[in-house]
Amino acid sequence: MENFNQVESDIISKIEKVTNRNSLDSIKTDIFGKKGIITELFKKISTLNQSQKKEYASKLNSLKIKVTNVLEKKIADFEQAEINKKLKNEKIDVTLPGRTHFSGKIHPVSQVIDEVTSIFSEIGFSVEEGPDIETEYFNFSALNTPENHPARDMHDTFYLDQSKDLLLRTHTSPVQIRTMLKDKPPFKIIAPGRTYRCDSDQTHSPMFHQLEGLHIDKNINMGHLKGCLYYFVKKFFEVEKVKMRFRPSHFPFTEPSAEVDIGYKIENGKIKVGEGDKWLEVLGCGMVHPNVLKNAKVNPKQYQGYAFGVGLDRLAMLKYGINDLRAFFESDIRWLEFYGFDPLDVPTNYRGLSR
Ligand code: PHE
Repeated sequence: MENFNQVESDIISKIEKVTNRNSLDSIKTDIFGKKGIITELFKKISTLNQSQKKEYASKLNSLKIKVTNVLEKKIADFEQAEINKKLKNEKIDVTLPGRTHFSGKIHPVSQVIDEVTSIFSEIGFSVEEGPDIETEYFNFSALNTPENHPARDMHDTFYLDQSKDLLLRTHTSPVQIRTMLKDKPPFKIIAPGRTYRCDSDQTHSPMFHQLEGLHIDKNINMGHLKGCLYYFVKKFFEVEKVKMRFRPSHFPFTEPSAEVDIGYKIENGKIKVGEGDKWLEVLGCGMVHPNVLKNAKVNPKQYQGYAFGVGLDRLAMLKYGINDLRAFFESDIRWLEFYGFDPLDVPTNYRGLSR
């Protein structure tokens, strides 16, 4: 008969000496695996005669139970040690003061786009969009601006290829054509978006934002245009009265055409709207030229209307007292923290546009 006591103390001392989980697994195989010590002992049972079998089997079973218990305890010890180690390493000191960190703000231009969209949607305008990369046709020709027309130079166009077919749109007016070709009149849309011109100073940036407006229906006249713009400007600046002036101007795609300036003054280095004797041009507008309507498959004998293009960055400068346009696009986090808006304060007409 085997010396079970000896086997037991051998195995247990081996287990006790183990210092990591992996060697414990390999010892487990040495004991209970296919050719393991205890497995081999079990195999022997069949070679014993009846009288030996009973005692042998019962001793072997209790050996197996003891060894299993010791093994399981050792495994549990390792797991507990692992947990203790993690707890120690991942401990959070809740008494440490929090780090102040910048939580993200809405850029004044995004804020202004939300505000103007809210104002115009209340008087029946829907929102359209067009691509930043335009064709020469949509940006100029379809808008009654033939080749060699001085307006093409005045726009300081960024062309994207030698043939001058593709360009970065110089205004949002191509969205007028795209909108009209897509559908049937009447049209009452606004189109906010990025625009590009090779120009840079305190009030010009090579990338800037415009809002196009287009209203085409039967019997629309210049009075509707003025009414719409007065309404918009008053709502936007949240005042009863704003100094505004319409100057006769020229755009190939409108006839007659006008430019609109807003009165302001600078007080303590900040812009104040509605007072003072300085003027900032914010808008071009006019009655849509019959040729433009024709190019967009609209019959100018039946339908007329107005269009306008507003400089959104300039509106933001005026409303929020920012006097250098270039800072808008420098991504200076301190500037954004100061001039930015709370992401949860979505502008609406009934709750107020800005606070
Ligand atoms: N597209 C013109 C510009 O960028 C503005 C404008 C739009 C004028 C619509 C008239 C009508 O200067």
